[in-house]
Amino acid sequence: MTRLLLMVLLCGPAVGYAAGDPVRGEKLHADCLGCHGTALYAASRAKIKTPAALKKEVERWNDRMNPKFSKQEVEDLAAYLNRDFYRFPQ
Ligand code: HEC
Repeated sequence: MTRLLLMVLLCGPAVGYAAGDPVRGEKLHADCLGCHGTALYAASRAKIKTPAALKKEVERWNDRMNPKFSKQEVEDLAAYLNRDFYRFPQ
C-alpha cells in the first residue's frame, strides 16, 4: 500500500521535464538546426542556467517556427535538451 502511494506520488504531477519525452524531442530538434547546431548548448558557453529559463528559451524560439510546435512538443524539446546538454537536476 505504501509502495503504491509512493509510486503515485513519483509519477504524479509533472515536475521539471517529466512531462516531456526526450526521445521524441531529439527527433523534433532536427527542425531547430536551421540556425544553429547543438554546440551552443555546451556547458562552457550556454547562457541558460535554470530549468525555467530553458523552457522559456524553447518557447521563445518556437515562436519563430512555422508551423509551431505544440505545447507537448515544446516539453519534449526541453526534455531532450536537458537530457543531453543542460542536465539540470530533475
Ligand atoms: C531563426 C534562427 C533560430 C531558430 C529557428 C532557432 N534558434 Fe535557438 N538560437 C538562435 C540564436 C541566434 C540563439 C542565440 C545564440 C547566442 O546567444 O549565442 C539561440 C539560442 C538558443 C538557446 C540558448 C542556448 C544557450 O544556453 O545559450 C536554446 C536553448 C535554443 N536556441 C533552442 C532552440 C530550439 C529548441 C529551437 C527549435 C524550436 C531553436 N532554438 C530554433 C537562433 C535560432
